[in-house]
Amino acid sequence: MRNSLKFFALTLVSIGLVFGGSGLAEAKKKKKIPKKPSFVGAVKCNGSCHDPYYQAWKASPHGGTFNLLKPGNRVEAKKRVKLDPDKDYTTTPLCLRCHTTGYKQRGGFKPAGSKNKKGKDTSTPIDPEEPNKEQVGCEMCHSVAGGAQFRIVMKNTKGDFKKAETEKYGQRWDYANVCTRCHTHKRTPFKPDVHDKYKFNFEERKKKVHPIEKYWTADNEDQKLEKLKDRKKETAQSEETPLIIEDFKVVKNKLRFNKKTMPYNSKKKSFRYKK
Ligand code: HEC
Ligand code: HEC
Ligand code: HEC
Repeated sequence: MRNSLKFFALTLVSIGLVFGGSGLAEAKKKKKIPKKPSFVGAVKCNGSCHDPYYQAWKASPHGGTFNLLKPGNRVEAKKRVKLDPDKDYTTTPLCLRCHTTGYKQRGGFKPAGSKNKKGKDTSTPIDPEEPNKEQVGCEMCHSVAGGAQFRIVMKNTKGDFKKAETEKYGQRWDYANVCTRCHTHKRTPFKPDVHDKYKFNFEERKKKVHPIEKYWTADNEDQKLEKLKDRKKETAQSEETPLIIEDFKVVKNKLRFNKKTMPYNSKKKSFRYKK
């Protein structure tokens, strides 16, 4: 009896090993696309795929937007728009919308003091060495509602995808348009009529977004996107018809998006383009 039990147990273990093992190998080859879009942070785009972009972004102004919200930084600029230079704005909802990644959206940045219903701290950890969701990351320019889904398409195809395939999962290609989520947006305190330096020339500015040229090394040269040229020949839907730009306001110290201005309609799982 004991022996047959032992045998039975061993058989179970080996079946588990065979099936579990091959299942794992399968999972490594192709990952499942998450059901809903969400923000994952810039660090997830780094590593084996976009290292030079991450390095260039990290050194760029967008890699340091959270710091501008701290007291004592950019004193003159703050005074000019009647913000208090001694105030800590790192938990102020209005500022977080444009200075961090995905604030008040699924997976997005959560400031210090954030708690769930049970009172557990849910604030996003910040590592000064590795800028991530607390800054204006990749997904604020490249995604409609976060990159969790299209990131998997990119991985599964090893970069060999068509614009339409990732666009279906919320990657956006309306580059000149996406900047106006923040620059020249009606809710920004730093409008062109305040100072000439806030005027926005897309062609000039885009050169500074992630100047990758000097970040290629022996370690990441295999990440060169051979398809970059092919992709330039394609035209995505969002290039033809840009997505609409979010409007929002702060009500009782909470950021409220105007639902009709959300470029992703989560109920219908569809996108809203400019008419
Ligand atoms: C609608 C988006 C938006 C909101 C809301 C917003 N900002 Fe900004 N902020 C920007 C953009 C865009 C720039 C860069 C402007 C430029 O350089 O042309 C900027 C720049 C700044 C700068 C640097 C200005 C300079 O000239 O050096 C500071 C400081 C700053 N923001 C603080 C804040 C604070 C504090 C809040 C909240 C009270 C806030 N921002 C809210 C979009 C926004
Ligand atoms: C402030 C907006 C912005 C941010 C933030 C940003 N990008 Fe970009 N990205 C752009 C623009 C604009 C282009 C197109 C540049 C051009 O056409 O010259 C681009 C192009 C790219 C491309 C080439 C794709 C193509 O075919 O157009 C890749 C890859 C890329 N970015 C990755 C990243 C990664 C990874 C990050 C984060 C570490 C990031 N980007 C952050 C705006 C941004
Ligand atoms: C989510 C908000 C947001 C979006 C979207 C965004 N920016 Fe910015 N951008 C900022 C903030 C905030 C700053 C201020 C950084 C600073 O002054 O240090 C800034 C600063 C910059 C700067 C540095 C100022 C300078 O000229 O030296 C450039 C360049 C720039 N943005 C280009 C772009 C471009 C191009 C796009 C669109 C492809 C874009 N930004 C989209 C928030 C945004």
